[in-house]
Amino acid sequence: MAEANGNQGSPQNGQAADGKQGAQIPGYQVLSKIGAGAQATVYKAKQLSLNRIVAVKVLSKRLSSDGEFVARFFREAQAVAKLNHPNIIQAIDYGEIGGRHYFVTEFVDGYTVQDEITKGKVYSEVDAMSIILQIAKALDHAHGIGLIHRDVKPSNIMVTQDGKAKLADMGLAVATVDLKNAIETSKMYGTPYYISPEQILGKADIDFRADIYSLGATLFHMVTGRRPFTGKNVIEVLEKHLKAPLESPDMVNLDLLPPICRVIEKMMQKEPAKRQANTAQLVHDLESVDFLLEQAADDKKDGMPLGHLSIGQDEGESPAQTGKSAAKAAGKKPSSVVQQPLTAPPGHEVEDIHGPWRPSVLEILLAALLLISIVGNVLQWMKIL
Ligand SMILES: Nc1ncnc2c1ncn2[C@@H]1O[C@H](COP(=O)(O)OP(=O)(O)OP(=O)(O)O)[C@@H](O)[C@H]1O
Ligand SMILES: [Mg+2]
Repeated sequence: MAEANGNQGSPQNGQAADGKQGAQIPGYQVLSKIGAGAQATVYKAKQLSLNRIVAVKVLSKRLSSDGEFVARFFREAQAVAKLNHPNIIQAIDYGEIGGRHYFVTEFVDGYTVQDEITKGKVYSEVDAMSIILQIAKALDHAHGIGLIHRDVKPSNIMVTQDGKAKLADMGLAVATVDLKNAIETSKMYGTPYYISPEQILGKADIDFRADIYSLGATLFHMVTGRRPFTGKNVIEVLEKHLKAPLESPDMVNLDLLPPICRVIEKMMQKEPAKRQANTAQLVHDLESVDFLLEQAADDKKDGMPLGHLSIGQDEGESPAQTGKSAAKAAGKKPSSVVQQPLTAPPGHEVEDIHGPWRPSVLEILLAALLLISIVGNVLQWMKIL
């Protein structure tokens, strides 16, 4: 079986990437190593029975020998196999050979959001929203059957050439951070940059809101080019997730419009109860932002200021948050000023905030004077004739 850190290459018929004899996955021809993460190595392979290209994820030796993890991994693999959603990488097969567990999935011909970020890309609001909205819909589907991802992050979001976003590693993540181990070794099994506070605290009742936080952190990174919290070491980053106030995204990228910042700030509330109440609500909020971004693009084309764009204020939103937005607006360019909050869910007409035109008394008087003067001039002209 392939080593989790096997060398890159093009192994021959059925061999795993380390090239060792006998290291084969029955029914598959391993073609090349695609990548490796903290838990596993991923290979491109051909499923011989159906003559199609697939991805094979081989769990690391460490995790393959962790009985508890493997049992949960298997249970979740079975649950994931029930999922059928265009934005979730489809599960195909699961197996174990030579003590190593593997998971076969649909092969995605594309790149991860992390690949793009690594190249230095800062996503436009529209591009980021397109990807995040698709992933929110994927999560809504998974949450609907009680599956929590637990490790939403840029490297687990793949995008195809035609812009279709696919969520990877559904159900594969380690449940919580081993904080003690992280403190002792300053190392953790995944990345600390997108993890929710409740996962850091090792809470037993992790729910869909952990995924909302991580998706918010991912969106923050995509549109600002910066991770929401950074630090000298893992512990510092984790502590900031727990305690440090989130810097407003439009303080990092001054071009961002208020609606997207508001939705990120809500997704990344430290208290789960202050985030979106469910993933359907999240999808609705993101669709509203998407709608307002389109509206902003149209207004920009027509030369109108963008200041009236904002999503509706929630009752539960803290005054501090509102105050922060106002303070931000004061120090920023006019396009960021929230002048007229309006909620515009997709499919709903946006009201004309000016209303129909009605003449004022002054306008009526001026019109009457104008009319008298015209009539007088006409009479005088007729007299001359
Ligand atoms: N189904 C797939 N199709 C194509 N490429 C994939 C697929 N799944 C994963 N990959 C590629 O394999 C790489 C490694 O994935 P893997 O999930 O092992 O690590 P990771 O997500 O980067 O890190 P972590 O272990 O922390 O989740 C990904 O970055 C991606 O490029
Ligand atoms: Mg992954």
